Amino acid sequence: MTCHVKISRGEPGREGTWSEYTLTVAEHEDTSIMNVLERIAAEQDPTLAFFDHAACRQAACGKCAVRCNGKVVLACKEKAQEEMLLEPARPARLVRDLLCRA
Ligand code: FES
Repeated sequence: MTCHVKISRGEPGREGTWSEYTLTVAEHEDTSIMNVLERIAAEQDPTLAFFDHAACRQAACGKCAVRCNGKVVLACKEKAQEEMLLEPARPARLVRDLLCRA
């Protein structure tokens, strides 16, 4: 499956922008949004900020929440879709890009 991902970029006090990425994920794998973000950061854009904490990734801490296509979801639990518009889940607590304070 080819994923087209558009991600809100920015930080408080600066006008935001969008970055777009395309990547291929194996359809038989249960690829999460977090898996997609990790691949983008590793393979295409190491400047992308998002919550990534190896100690959880089990829908337990809630800190990886993002808004995907208008709906707030947990990035570690939600399955990736072919077309994703990703925004911060808590814009009032934005640190940078998709990363928000708890
Ligand atoms: S990483 Fe903790 S809920 Fe997703």
